[in-house]
Amino acid sequence: MDEARRAKRIEWKLLARVLGRLRPHRSWVAAAAASTGMAAVVAFSGPYFTRAITDSAMAGNMRWVLGLMAASLGVALIDAGFGYAKSVSMATLSALTLRDLRDRMSSHVQALPPATLERYHSGDLVSRLSSDLDSCEAILRRAPDYLYQPLQFVGGLAFMVVLSPKLTLVTCALMPISLLVFERVVRPMQRHSMKAMESLAATTAATQDAIRGAPIVRAFNLQKVLAEHYRTLAKALERHGMENRKKGILAWVPFLMLRYIPQLIVPLYGGYMAFRGEISLGTLLAFDLLIWYVFLPLEAFLGWIRELREASPALARCYEILDSPAERRGGRAVPMASCDGAVEFRAVTFAYGEGRDVLSRLSFHVPAGRTVGLVGGSGCGKSTILRLTCGLYEPREGEIRVLGEPISEADLTSLRSRISLVAQDTHLFPGSIAENIRMARPDASREDVLAAARAANAHDFIEALPQGYDTPAGELGHRLSGGEKQRIGLARAFLRDAPILLLDEPTASLDTESEARVLDAVRRLAKGRTTLVVSHRLSALRDADEIIVLADGGICERGTHASLLEADTIYRRLYEQQAQAAAEA
Ligand SMILES: Nc1ncnc2c1ncn2[C@@H]1O[C@H](COP(=O)(O)OP(=O)(O)O)[C@@H](O)[C@H]1O
Ligand SMILES: [Mg+2]
Repeated sequence: MDEARRAKRIEWKLLARVLGRLRPHRSWVAAAAASTGMAAVVAFSGPYFTRAITDSAMAGNMRWVLGLMAASLGVALIDAGFGYAKSVSMATLSALTLRDLRDRMSSHVQALPPATLERYHSGDLVSRLSSDLDSCEAILRRAPDYLYQPLQFVGGLAFMVVLSPKLTLVTCALMPISLLVFERVVRPMQRHSMKAMESLAATTAATQDAIRGAPIVRAFNLQKVLAEHYRTLAKALERHGMENRKKGILAWVPFLMLRYIPQLIVPLYGGYMAFRGEISLGTLLAFDLLIWYVFLPLEAFLGWIRELREASPALARCYEILDSPAERRGGRAVPMASCDGAVEFRAVTFAYGEGRDVLSRLSFHVPAGRTVGLVGGSGCGKSTILRLTCGLYEPREGEIRVLGEPISEADLTSLRSRISLVAQDTHLFPGSIAENIRMARPDASREDVLAAARAANAHDFIEALPQGYDTPAGELGHRLSGGEKQRIGLARAFLRDAPILLLDEPTASLDTESEARVLDAVRRLAKGRTTLVVSHRLSALRDADEIIVLADGGICERGTHASLLEADTIYRRLYEQQAQAAAEA
């Protein structure tokens, strides 16, 4: 979005969209509007009673005075009742709106395609979901005032005009000037507020990076460098925050002008008018009260505009996420099996974002039940092929078919339910080891989980953990080694029991013993399934039905392990290098 525009304009449209979400809570809206309207109307009885009581007393009508005083007490009680109802209903509405916004944002983040998510640092997204939402809440919390204050302002002004148009004109003469001054002071606050939010997001991101990379930071003695980086960000945050606070204080100048000048004018000029008999004493006193009915709401309104300026960038940052298109939904179901083969790439060209082509016109075909190995230099696009097969990204050109179904038309949920992906790095979520395995199939029984772990050669090491399968894993949990995590990933794949298996470097960074265990599990897992396995350990691919060697976005060699070793191939050279290294070790 245009940054300059975002720094200046109040996001009225977004505010309207937030308030539009109140539609399902119609009865609360009606209650809030009714109680607010009534509270505003009843509030005007104050100046009315003051005028009536004073003028009756001046006329010597004491019975009237007593009656009016009793009535005004009764009305004050009613006023309190409406005030209470108004506050409760409005507080409920703002809480409901905020919850709705929070829910929608967090579920929308889940629905965004990876290509969109990659445009943001996770710290920035966390900041949007926490501090930016809090800023939005600040304006929602003021929602009661949107209705009440304008009503009071308009009513108060009308009452003043009825009592004395001349005195009203004199009293309010300065109002437009102070409004202009106020707007000028407050306008730059939005830009500072936007910069402050961006700085806050950057500090969140920096903190996350420092925590995630803590071992590296220590190993390379980078604490000072990181602290300096953080300090720079924190300084920017402080500077923009300070600017806003200064502007906020400066904005009080028109506030004070708004308040105090009429307070002087009414007794002086109004007193002169009363002395000349142009208005009654009761009218003068009522007028003195009415100033507050007009100027306090105006003050509140200006304060609200200020808050809106400060919160507008937060609204925009939240809606930028909400308005990003989600992954497509619906489409054709992918069958469990197909005679057209399991995975097929037809002249697929792909690039990340605006980057260079990672794959260009790549074609290959994996028949059902076969295993194909993908080999190639680092960064040649092996993992990309697996990600494309899962429908995580869309190819620029060409077509990918899974179980005979073009995935551009397939239902993504159905597509992914046919696939088990064992990624290069198995991510563990907070929760026990058993829960982490069960994620592959939430309805699996404990026996199923144990059987999957056994098949993945993970059972023994899990049993040896302090609490066995109930040992907490993930952040704040037990730290597992690379090979152990890899086997948890395989256990998930066993439990998922999908017809297509995608393995990304299942034995990368494993020692020989773990490698043998993992390979043993992989062999069992691949049995009866269509398997695409990426590995740079060529020994792991010996049993594959076909091996595809990738280079420059396309296929440079293909064949079985044996046939590739017979000819003078890159594969053979790589294999011999690895065999020699293994022998030396
Ligand atoms: N999310 C991404 N955004 C942009 N570029 C990426 C992304 N993921 C990978 N790449 C780039 O695409 C190329 C292929 O990556 P990848 O398929 O992960 O390689 P590998 O063959 O080592 O698995 C690399 O040059 C990598 O830098
Ligand atoms: Mg890779």
